[in-house]
Amino acid sequence: NQQKQLLKEEIKQLLKAKNAQLVAHYYVDDDLQALAEETGGVVADSLEMANFGAQSSADVLVVCGVRFMGETAKIFSPEKTVLMPNLDATCSLDVGCPAKEFAEFCAQYPQHKVVVYANTSAEVKALADWVVTSGNALQIVRHLKAQGEKIIWAPDRHLGNWIEKETGIEMIRWQGHCIVHDEFKSFELNDLRQKHPRAKVLVHPESPAAVVEQADIVGSTKVLLNAVQSLDDDEFIVATDYNIFYKMQQLAPHKTLLVAPTGGHGATCKSCAHCPWMAMNGLQNLAECLRAMAPVVQIEEPLRMKALQSLQRMLDFSR
Ligand code: 13P
Ligand code: SF4
Repeated sequence: NQQKQLLKEEIKQLLKAKNAQLVAHYYVDDDLQALAEETGGVVADSLEMANFGAQSSADVLVVCGVRFMGETAKIFSPEKTVLMPNLDATCSLDVGCPAKEFAEFCAQYPQHKVVVYANTSAEVKALADWVVTSGNALQIVRHLKAQGEKIIWAPDRHLGNWIEKETGIEMIRWQGHCIVHDEFKSFELNDLRQKHPRAKVLVHPESPAAVVEQADIVGSTKVLLNAVQSLDDDEFIVATDYNIFYKMQQLAPHKTLLVAPTGGHGATCKSCAHCPWMAMNGLQNLAECLRAMAPVVQIEEPLRMKALQSLQRMLDFSR
């Protein structure tokens, strides 16, 4: 623990010395979330992370999350140095939607608007008309529907399904999934709800439809956090990465939080509901990356300019 303390102190000093800010997601390690808050950075959902990075006046952004979040920061701030503790921290949605195949997929529907989730590579964003996060997907798709547009959606099939149900639009859908949220089990969730009849069920829309159907609240990590804080209820079953409990407990220390079941037979497998790529961010590699000012996120300028268009459209719409 003394070693942890020393690392934290060193990170704080390095952040100051380099005029750097931490931009962290709710799924990363508690220590990193706490550091981001203590040092004037941000802990946020992916939409707020993008907004914060775009508006920050720091010289350096250190993105503690997964690769698409680092890329988004770089796309909005080419003049800043964007660091990540580990550039191999990817996302199964990003991996499952390669740009070349996606371009071929889109070419079959030339009349459609291409709407992609933020959890994609810069190359895929460069093919899109719009980027959305789970924080603004419904509003943006409703807006497109009102304009009479037809839509190609990628890559998350469950999020796509939820959007279709909520907006009443039918989309051409890519069939990707998040390996973390796809594991939540509907039968076992139903069981847990019987045992905790007063608990409100909070679900991230990357979860399977049969889990989403049992939710009291469906939304981005930010929406789920707000629910824990603002609702009068004192017990919640949460279907998203359990590292969000750090912030939930901080905002509502007296409330009871239960992890939605991921294993069979009613077992709650904590280690299943955690993103392996988010877990690649730690105090040690964060300190190393600030010392070495590496690895940096780099994006070729023509690609950055293309990806910026669909991302900027999203931010302009959400502001
Ligand atoms: P949020 O935009 O809700 O933070 O989600 C990002 C993510 O990767 C969820 O798995
Ligand atoms: Fe991607 Fe799922 Fe990890 Fe979120 S939790 S970063 S969607 S793999």
